[in-house]
Amino acid sequence: MLRQPLTLDAVRRRFAACFSTAGAEPVVAFAPGRVNLIGDHIDYCGGRVLPMPIQYGTWVAAAANGTGEIRARSDNAETTIHLTEDRQTPFPAGHWGRFVAGADAVLGNHGAPCRGMNLLIAGDIPASGLSSSASLSVALLLAMGALSGSRLQGLNLALAAQQIEHRHVGVACGLMDQAAVVLGQPDAALRFDCATQEGQAIALGHEQCAIIVADSGVARSLAASAYNTRLDELARIGSALDLAPATLARTLQTPPELDDPVLTRRARHIATEQSRVDAACAALQRGDWCDFGRMLHASHASLRDDYAVSCAEVDLLVEIFARQPGCYGARMTGAGFGGAVVAAVSSDQADTCARAAAEAYAGPGGRTLQTFVARSRGGARLHD
Ligand code: GLA
Repeated sequence: MLRQPLTLDAVRRRFAACFSTAGAEPVVAFAPGRVNLIGDHIDYCGGRVLPMPIQYGTWVAAAANGTGEIRARSDNAETTIHLTEDRQTPFPAGHWGRFVAGADAVLGNHGAPCRGMNLLIAGDIPASGLSSSASLSVALLLAMGALSGSRLQGLNLALAAQQIEHRHVGVACGLMDQAAVVLGQPDAALRFDCATQEGQAIALGHEQCAIIVADSGVARSLAASAYNTRLDELARIGSALDLAPATLARTLQTPPELDDPVLTRRARHIATEQSRVDAACAALQRGDWCDFGRMLHASHASLRDDYAVSCAEVDLLVEIFARQPGCYGARMTGAGFGGAVVAAVSSDQADTCARAAAEAYAGPGGRTLQTFVARSRGGARLHD
């Protein structure tokens, strides 16, 4: 099991240690990561999805520094960056500084330009696939925005965070992650309709069912390029069917047959995943964990076979969970190509299930499996 999440006091102490001359008490923002329970790779084509925030996330502490310069320290990257007053600081692709520069630019575009400030960034999200980027984007917007007079909140905050990814990080992601991070409620999942951009909290009966997250330990090295390939394929499905790609999840009621067998499989995932999300939401609402679990299993098979975004280790981990007593269902979660697996497990068997899965996954190769029981403590918040 994992370390304890970071605390507000610990973040304040770190800020004081990093910026000892700053004097002013910082504002501190926290934005959670998220685990997607079901509905992957349909948010960017207008689908309905079911993510939930987790108890781990990103903290950003911020205080004015009386200059025009933004100085940011990342505890995870163990580096500090400076955005000079003229903001002419380019960061290479993949550099975390792009999120800071992006938040600064997006706040400026929303009528809240940033002056000089010191920022401390510290995150405790324990695996990949749990949306550390949406968590970082939202925490930066909240903390930097608190000093620059931003009024961004709710859906507008989520959309602004998505702009950071689209315009400054270079990932044309959907809105699922940002919506979960901002709009998520305690002890509930968020049914989010990416077309109407409306969310609805669906309570999770934690007394009966635990949501276990397990880290396959496989870094998601291919995820960004494969994500863009899937977006290209979606555009080709759209033109083959004469439909707007951004509406495919709601327009494809039944899987279409296309000339290209690969596109037929991709379209089948989109159509069937949408009906699984709807069935899973209905199962959750009536407390039918077996049916909910069946949807998770079927979703994994579809992501593995039709959408082709899983990998051997994640498939193995899902199979291991599937054979544990008390496990209702398991699947990969997020963009795929490694990262985390989510499993719905009878609460009274959660500990034994996690231990047995870790033992089985270790196998002769001695792989280690980190797991935790995910709980939502709600969406992003500001402490000032
Ligand atoms: C990433 C993206 C999301 C979504 C998932 C896959 O997390 O940021 O928008 O597309 O992949 O469901």
